Amino acid sequence: MAAMEDFLTDYPQGKEQKRYVDGELPHLPFADGEFDIAVCSHLLFLYSEQFSADFHVVSIQELCRIASEVRIFPLLELGAKTSRHLQAVTDNLSAMGYSVTVDPVPYEFQRGGNQMMKIRASNLPLTAGVRAASRREWRVARSKAPFAIGMTGED
Ligand SMILES: C[S@@+](CC[C@H](N)C(=O)[O-])C[C@H]1O[C@@H](n2cnc3c(N)ncnc32)[C@H](O)[C@@H]1O
Repeated sequence: MAAMEDFLTDYPQGKEQKRYVDGELPHLPFADGEFDIAVCSHLLFLYSEQFSADFHVVSIQELCRIASEVRIFPLLELGAKTSRHLQAVTDNLSAMGYSVTVDPVPYEFQRGGNQMMKIRASNLPLTAGVRAASRREWRVARSKAPFAIGMTGED
């Protein structure tokens, strides 16, 4: 709740200062390597029924294009079950040479949702492009280094 209040307090000024930018996975309007960290909260894995494993992989590739490290939380899908795509996405990214780790975190919004995935692609060539998928809006928050990116948009 504190984080939400911080966001709501910051949002009017942040929008004015263009620190909140609209975007939509799997394409984001940022340059290669623009951020140190990209944080994706309650979208990837949570909507596993709506988004395919392939969408997850290309979206994570896109996040890795713009940030040195990508963090995704939680790894549950709706219904508080482990995402049906978790294994396939992990396997695919690992096979492509990404470093993928899953760590426990002290924050647990959904019961059992206390794991975060970290993906790094530091030794990979940059992604050339990703396929289009969802047309929904992604609002990202941009701050000074270390950069944070998080979805704050409304449907
Ligand atoms: C459950 S909300 C999570 C909001 C916030 N990140 C949080 O953790 O409280 C999911 C968000 O994902 C956004 N969204 C849906 N499809 C998207 C896409 N293709 N790319 C980026 N964001 C999307 C929705 O607009 C919505 O704001």
